[in-house]
Amino acid sequence: MKLFLDSADCEEVRLAAELGVISGVTTNPTLIAREGKDLRETVRTLATLVDGPISAEVVAEDAEGMIEEGRELAAIHPSVVIKLPIGLDGLRATQVLSRQGIKTNVTLVFSIAQALLAARAGATYVSPFVGRLDDLSANGISLVRGIAEVFTLHGISSEIIAASIRSPQDVADAACAGAHVATVPYRVLLQMAAHPLTDLGLARFRRDWKDAFGK
Ligand code: G3P
Repeated sequence: MKLFLDSADCEEVRLAAELGVISGVTTNPTLIAREGKDLRETVRTLATLVDGPISAEVVAEDAEGMIEEGRELAAIHPSVVIKLPIGLDGLRATQVLSRQGIKTNVTLVFSIAQALLAARAGATYVSPFVGRLDDLSANGISLVRGIAEVFTLHGISSEIIAASIRSPQDVADAACAGAHVATVPYRVLLQMAAHPLTDLGLARFRRDWKDAFGK
C-alpha cells in the first residue's frame, strides 16, 4: 500500500517528502482554504515537491463547470489528478475527463454503490472517507474492505485511496482491508513513526552504551 499526504501545506509536504515514504498528495477545498493560497500556485509547488499524483479538487457545482475546471487544473502539471465529488454531475465530469486521458479521483465516497459508479465512470481513484464514517459510529474500514472485495471480484482497475484517516491504526486497517493507498494528515504520519516503547528502548540502548564506553 502506498502513502499519500493529505495536505495543502507545502512546508508539511516538503518535510514529509524528505522521509522518502510519500508517493503522492491529496488536497481538498477545505485544506486549500485553510492555507489561504492560490490553488493553482499550490498545486504547481506540490508537483515540484513530490514525484507522484497530486489531487486537486474542482469547486464547480455542475458537470460543465467541473469539466472546464478539471481541464484547466490538469494543464498545470502532468502529475495533477482531478478530484471530483461523487454524484450525477461528478460522474458526468469523470467520464468526460477520463475519456480525455485526464486522471480522476472521485471523492466523498461513503458506499460500495458510489465506488462502483465511480469506477464505471472511469475513475482512476475512488476515495472512501473512513474517519467521517467512524465519527458516526459506522465502520469506515469495512467500507474500504467491501470496495476492495468488489473491485477484486470484478477485475476493476480503479485504485482505492483510504481517506479521512484519523490514526496510525486507520492506516494499518486500510492496508489490511486492501486499499491501494492511504492518504494521511502530516500529524498521523508523525504518529506512525513514533511509539513509547521505541523511545524507552532507545534510551536504554544509549544509557547502557554510555555506561559501558563512556560516550
Ligand atoms: O482530503 C480528503 C479527506 O482525507 C479529508 O478527510 O475527514 O479529515 O476532512 P477529513
